Amino acid sequence: MTLSATVLMHPRFTVGAVDRRLFGSFVEHLGRAVYTGIYEPTHTTADEHGFRKDVADLTRELGVSVVRYPGGNFVSNYVWEDGVGPVADRKPFIDLAWRTVEPNTVGTDEFLQWAEREGVEPMMAVNLGTRGVAAAAALVEYCNGEPGTRWADMRVANGRTEPYGVRLWCLGNEMDGPWQVGAKDALEYGRLAAEAGKAMKLVDPTIELVACGSSGMGMPTFGEWERTVLECTWDVVDHISAHAYYEEHDGDRASFLASATSMDRFIRRVVASADAVAARKRSDKQITVSFDEWNVWYMTGRGGGAPTSSAAGIQRDAPRIIEDVYSALDAVVVGDLLVTLLNNADRVPLACLAQLVNVIAPIMTEPGGESWRQPTFHPFATTAELARGTALDLRVDAPTTTTKEHGEVPLVTAAATVDEQTGALALFLTNRSPEPVEVTLDHLGAQVTLEGAKRMVADHDPAVHGPEHAAQAIASCWGEVDTADVRSEGNRTTVTLPAESWTAWNGTLR
Ligand code: AHR
Repeated sequence: MTLSATVLMHPRFTVGAVDRRLFGSFVEHLGRAVYTGIYEPTHTTADEHGFRKDVADLTRELGVSVVRYPGGNFVSNYVWEDGVGPVADRKPFIDLAWRTVEPNTVGTDEFLQWAEREGVEPMMAVNLGTRGVAAAAALVEYCNGEPGTRWADMRVANGRTEPYGVRLWCLGNEMDGPWQVGAKDALEYGRLAAEAGKAMKLVDPTIELVACGSSGMGMPTFGEWERTVLECTWDVVDHISAHAYYEEHDGDRASFLASATSMDRFIRRVVASADAVAARKRSDKQITVSFDEWNVWYMTGRGGGAPTSSAAGIQRDAPRIIEDVYSALDAVVVGDLLVTLLNNADRVPLACLAQLVNVIAPIMTEPGGESWRQPTFHPFATTAELARGTALDLRVDAPTTTTKEHGEVPLVTAAATVDEQTGALALFLTNRSPEPVEVTLDHLGAQVTLEGAKRMVADHDPAVHGPEHAAQAIASCWGEVDTADVRSEGNRTTVTLPAESWTAWNGTLR
């Protein structure tokens, strides 16, 4: 049986400009994200700074715009001053978030210089778990201050005269989570974030600040947390964070495939909470959402979870932590999550796929060995490459299904962008159904040509670790689409989507 759906597109119906920062990622001092991930001085590809060139090349191919650092949960007990200066003088410490010995070999300067060399924008987080206003303001001065004051001169003494000009700053991480070292209630956190943010902007008024939202839509204080935190921080913050991880529970494929509907509802609720605070304050300020952690994460298996229980010993030497192995099904879900982000481009200018290397990541490495792409690499890289200009406000008329986790959801989702300068069109279509769907694109008053496409089709094969398995999975589920499939008649274009697939079309709209 082939289902049918209609997508209505008009070039004047738009969502908003697509900010390149939507294609961010994340490197935390967690497991092997840093050590034997981006950094491995003994690796054959290592540059003169000790960073792996093979990983840097894949990062560039992935099209990542922003990289968040150094955490995550890690940041909540991080003393940044211990990670700068001569490496030989730096002391290891016990990172309480992941109960791992952090050698402090890579710190602020190493990361920021790596980001600069690789052309990615850094997004720094400050510790509002065990530390506060002074340490946060000092770090902004260390990174962005002109020489001639205490912390800026420390940077100069450490070999870097020019300020880094870090624009994006997170005020802590998931501060509502009981797992967070130094967790706080909304008022405690809100007041601290307001004062830290105020001091940070007094050091550098050009920075953008992200307040911690709830660490998930399922948190008992979700909504109320956003309200309280934004009431406190309204004058200083620019964005509020959202974090979400999705996984398949008990073989419930339909719910998993509809994860992006949950993300969409999450974004809408955070936006509604922010706008409610604006209304109470009679303010025209518009707070936007920094979706700075999102991905598929098998918390209940596959990656092995995090050794946060006190029973587990403290680990050393970059242990393997949450190294999830992804399938083509996961990649279809990742593609669909990107569809949701694009459809909310007006209120989500910034997002980070968590994470970049080894830790729930599109890029994997072996110490001293190969690096490779997981299936999830491809929808991200393709969207980052094709989505340009303005996101269009599409109307999708599709059959629905009722899922256990999310209730009624559409079986087809769509997003499109158009570059007004060149007319380049990108059209992203997900078919969540176990049946093929014929999609008719109704492009009112515009000429659309679909020129080529790449497609990920889910399968039922288990994800298996290793470069050969990943390459095989990709070869069988990912590839170019035959354009003979496109049927055009006047203002209508029809394509058929295979079951459980994600497709990215490129073309023109005039
Ligand atoms: O990305 C892994 C962890 O997930 C981060 O450290 C934390 O912020 C979130 O809970």
